[in-house]
Amino acid sequence: MCGIIGYIGNRNAAPILLEGLKRLEYRGYDSSGIGLIKRKRLAVYKKEGKIAALERTLPKDISGKPGIAHTRWATHGQVNDINAHPHASFDNRVAVVHNGIIDNYAPIKHKLKQDGISFRSETDSEVIANLIARHYQDDPEVAVQNALRQLEGTYGLIVLFTDNPDLLIGARNGSPLIVGVGEKEMLLASDVSAMLAHTKQVFYIEDRETVVLQKDSYKTVNTENSVVDKTIEKIEWELDEIEKGDYHHFMLKEICEQPETIQRAYGGGGRLLPDFGTSKLGGLNLGKQDFFEIDSVITMGMGTAYYAAMIGSYLLEHMARLPCKAERASELRYRNAIVKKNMLFFAVSQSGETLDTLSAMREIQHRGGRVLGICNVVGSTIARESDGGVYIHAGPEIAVASTKAFTSQVTVFLLLAIMIGRMRDIPASLGKRYINELTTIPGKIAFILERKAEIEQLAEKYSKARSFLFLGRGVSYPVAMEGALKLKEVSYIHAEGFSAGDIKHGPIALVNEETPSLFIAVEGETFDKTLGNMEEIKARNGRIITITNSDNERIRELSDDIFVVPETNELLSPLLTVVPLQLFAYFIASILGKDVDQPRNLAKTVTVE
Ligand code: G6P
Repeated sequence: MCGIIGYIGNRNAAPILLEGLKRLEYRGYDSSGIGLIKRKRLAVYKKEGKIAALERTLPKDISGKPGIAHTRWATHGQVNDINAHPHASFDNRVAVVHNGIIDNYAPIKHKLKQDGISFRSETDSEVIANLIARHYQDDPEVAVQNALRQLEGTYGLIVLFTDNPDLLIGARNGSPLIVGVGEKEMLLASDVSAMLAHTKQVFYIEDRETVVLQKDSYKTVNTENSVVDKTIEKIEWELDEIEKGDYHHFMLKEICEQPETIQRAYGGGGRLLPDFGTSKLGGLNLGKQDFFEIDSVITMGMGTAYYAAMIGSYLLEHMARLPCKAERASELRYRNAIVKKNMLFFAVSQSGETLDTLSAMREIQHRGGRVLGICNVVGSTIARESDGGVYIHAGPEIAVASTKAFTSQVTVFLLLAIMIGRMRDIPASLGKRYINELTTIPGKIAFILERKAEIEQLAEKYSKARSFLFLGRGVSYPVAMEGALKLKEVSYIHAEGFSAGDIKHGPIALVNEETPSLFIAVEGETFDKTLGNMEEIKARNGRIITITNSDNERIRELSDDIFVVPETNELLSPLLTVVPLQLFAYFIASILGKDVDQPRNLAKTVTVE
């Protein structure tokens, strides 16, 4: 989704902004642009397509400061050069990059047009530039604040003033905005990765705050124009974590990082209390007593985070004996949801910025509910606004298709389920078994990864299929959903995940020789039932690929192809069974020559509804 970056300081802004744009690429975009001030003149360059296309249009000796830049993910107006950002005002005194949607742009545009102002683009964002210019007498700050008062909607924006090259102004309502404090220079961006090469010292802008940056000072004010104190925090991520290293794609790099990221999620042991067969998690802001009072749990998220939330719900019900339900945040937000005192909500989000999840969290909080965040990005909005939570510490996830964040989210849910379960239902001996088993998972994933060539062969064999079914039961049902999501996201092949028990109630009509079914069949509660479902597919000449931890004759007879993952407890099995599915999606997409890390139409961080 759109990314923004601004720079003010002594250096030429152009290379800094270009590098920042490349760091923002992973969020997903369809055009990009740069605006700079050079000798009190505004220079704007923008181009449809990849940043490489923008670079080709730039003068070789491009320079200027300060500057702003943008990666656009079209919402209002087609993907073309004109609709790309920055947008300059009618008089070229103001230029704006904007992330978000201005809901009331149409009446404002109409009014400005009546006043004789002409527009170049079809975007809602151009309205912001013209509105600020309209208010701009001699004080940029006043102009921005007056304009913001008239805007309804979401924004993270950066404003450049042609005749005032000593400042940049940023404002936020609903879209992330972070200030990077450097040595006699300041950066402003929607994402810390855009500034990591220059500074690790940051502070976060909150909704309805405006920040005025000069190269060696900053001032943040709220809507009442009172100055807000900011605490500077240090970003923990390292630059090499946002680089591909020896890998062709971030997605493969991130899949292969999972032995370490899962270990980090259980704190390398620091979150485990093996002697008591339980875990300890700081940051929940809940006392022991609170856990006795909880009588139900709702987990929520979108996309992959939602499937992790489904597994979380399953684990909490099974281990902690709590009524649990997973919800898509976008649905929960607009339902007349029941919120009661003893309910506990979990908002699951890698980025911590997904607007559907953030809005659902705010709605629940507004109704008096307590929401804990399970986030990856430290300092993200969900992490800051939740009532407590757990970081998954997976490190930056750059590929649009989420992989390592999923297994880390599941790991954190396991810790929570074991912890609450131990207070309610689970004896120490069983808790110890879960904990011991969890510590063996990284090694088992490493073993799966060593065999990735086997998955690559499977991908070769099945890459011509036009449609896939992914099927699992119990805790493997969300894994099937996640496997299907991964495949469709990166390969654009149609794939649907179903509960295997549900196939005979409809989806079985899709089965034929051309539509392979991928089963996740794990020993445990529903293993035999899953084998029964495989029989049903086999009887209809469907091809079957099976991911299992049970290598026996019957399953081999039923399967056209099989990948056996190491033995583990059924409840922990998603951490293993999802890995071959991630690799399967990755290899098929690579074989088909797709843009694996930045699939078409998708965005990593979806900051619009
Ligand atoms: C988008 C991404 C998905 C991601 C989902 C939730 O749809 O394309 O990969 O799972 O958002 O993102 P979050 O950052 O909230 O986990």
